[in-house]
Amino acid sequence: TTGGGATGTALGFKGLPISNADTITVPEGYTAQVIAPWGDPVGLSGEMPAYKADATNSAAEQEAQFGMHHDGIHFYAQSATSGLLVMNHEYTDDGLLHAGGMASWTAEKVRKAQAAHGVSVCEVALADGLWRVVQPSPWARRITARTPMAVTGPAAGHAMLKTAADPSGRRVLGTFNNCGSGITPWGTYLTCEENFINYFKGPDQPDAHQARWGLRKGDPAGYRWHEHDERFDAGKHPNEPNRHGWVVEIDPSNPSSTPVKRTALGRAAHEGATVAVTRDGRAVVYMGEDSRFEYIYKFVSAGRIQSGGAAANATLLDTGTLYVARFDADGRGRWIALTHGEGALTAANGFADQGEVLIKSRQASDRLGATKMDRPEWIAVDRQGWVYCTLTNNSNRAGKDQPGVDAANPRANNGMGHIIRWKEDGDHDGLAFQWNHFVLAGDPLNERAEAKGNVQGDAFACPDGLWVDARGVLWIQTDMSTSAMGKGELAGLAHNMMLAADPATGQIRRFLTGPAGCEITGATGTPDGRTMFINIQHPGESPSERSDPQAPTRFSNWPDKGANRPRSATVVIRRVDGGVIGA
Ligand code: FEO
Ligand code: CA
Ligand code: CA
Ligand code: CA
Repeated sequence: TTGGGATGTALGFKGLPISNADTITVPEGYTAQVIAPWGDPVGLSGEMPAYKADATNSAAEQEAQFGMHHDGIHFYAQSATSGLLVMNHEYTDDGLLHAGGMASWTAEKVRKAQAAHGVSVCEVALADGLWRVVQPSPWARRITARTPMAVTGPAAGHAMLKTAADPSGRRVLGTFNNCGSGITPWGTYLTCEENFINYFKGPDQPDAHQARWGLRKGDPAGYRWHEHDERFDAGKHPNEPNRHGWVVEIDPSNPSSTPVKRTALGRAAHEGATVAVTRDGRAVVYMGEDSRFEYIYKFVSAGRIQSGGAAANATLLDTGTLYVARFDADGRGRWIALTHGEGALTAANGFADQGEVLIKSRQASDRLGATKMDRPEWIAVDRQGWVYCTLTNNSNRAGKDQPGVDAANPRANNGMGHIIRWKEDGDHDGLAFQWNHFVLAGDPLNERAEAKGNVQGDAFACPDGLWVDARGVLWIQTDMSTSAMGKGELAGLAHNMMLAADPATGQIRRFLTGPAGCEITGATGTPDGRTMFINIQHPGESPSERSDPQAPTRFSNWPDKGANRPRSATVVIRRVDGGVIGA
């Protein structure tokens, strides 16, 4: 493994031990402050309903409050001490969201669940060493599973996107299961639609396209939206799922702007969207699809980024080339274009036009011989141009009818996950690259060789969130599932955590541990490096992973303590001496 080429990014804090405590721990000399928990008002003028701890807030009130299950996040500085925080709300734990949980399921509960999904925009300000949400704020905004959105790019208006409610195929209601995020150099936010298929009731016999996208008979995830919102019954509305699984661009500087689903970036169970810029100013969007045996993509814009912010770049992500990655055994790799008419992507093979290639990105990638990965999650680019992608875990690589190990995904039972990285030949639009493994996660105390890993420093498993800060430190966040956490080969790792890695040396040090049953996700900071914002998602989640639909009683009461329901929230990390985080 070659080094990242950095000059060495000193990690100036003392690494933490693992933790089983229902709290946030940070290194000595650091503080952690909770803001923006689920249910607090986001700050809409004239609409600031207080959080009710018994979950009796109405759907209309939830539409003015922070959603549940915070995920990707970004801070847009407006001054040295203020700015906008934009964050995703991935999914809901309906046992906590409603008084009485999912009993007496009603249209009002469906509407509240839909309102607790999507994206929040809030204004935050620093005073006396503490950050607070500014309420009210002219920037505050909620985007939910019901917010009208435009569809642009080659698949806009496609026959496969048309429904009874939208014969144009260009206007979709809402975004949901928003997992990772990204930012553009022109000031917009990219929110990614991940496991959208779980919200749909499938027909009794899904067709080949539906089956390839995971649509199954019934309502496997139990969200029960279809019972009061018929578009979520894919048996009755088979094209509605095709309208989700996109990257959505939002302009936080214009609270009345319409979010845009950018079909040129392809359809996937999108984890995140990380933008790099070529030397001649074109945008390159790196994207992972978090599902076993799915793919890593990149989009290269045809045009160059223009000065003038969002308005000047309003169509930049609509024209360009989408590629999928193939990792070869010799440490080299190729980007293969998903372009209609090239190679196997022909009408005879089920791709009538470029729109159908993008709607059926998975089938197209299958045809092109791309590498089936161990659940690609977040992607980050370091200061030397290495591109890192977390492959969170995959215990089934060598399972029946599965592809088996390959050079890029080398463990048959990869319960621990790894981080792969590549460097493009030439520039970020390169068609070939070199690659290696930055780290195979694991715990050296495990007996099974594959579960030991090769971490230099503090042990961890199931890497998910990734962020490179202004100093070049690679921050790694973990998502050991609540069903597996603390057991078996993960027993020695306790709660989920965040670690800091030095790309030059590979040294990894544990920086933060989370409360019970949560994952750590999303990272951003102020330009001066003195404040970091991260998200705590699903504290107290039951081991069945998506909640006991009835009982609000959980094994975490973070952050409110006492008999309170646990709440996803943002955590603000500062140093007591006001210094740069991690240094
Ligand atoms: Fe929503 Fe792949 O984590
Ligand atoms: Ca994730
Ligand atoms: Ca994850
Ligand atoms: Ca999650």
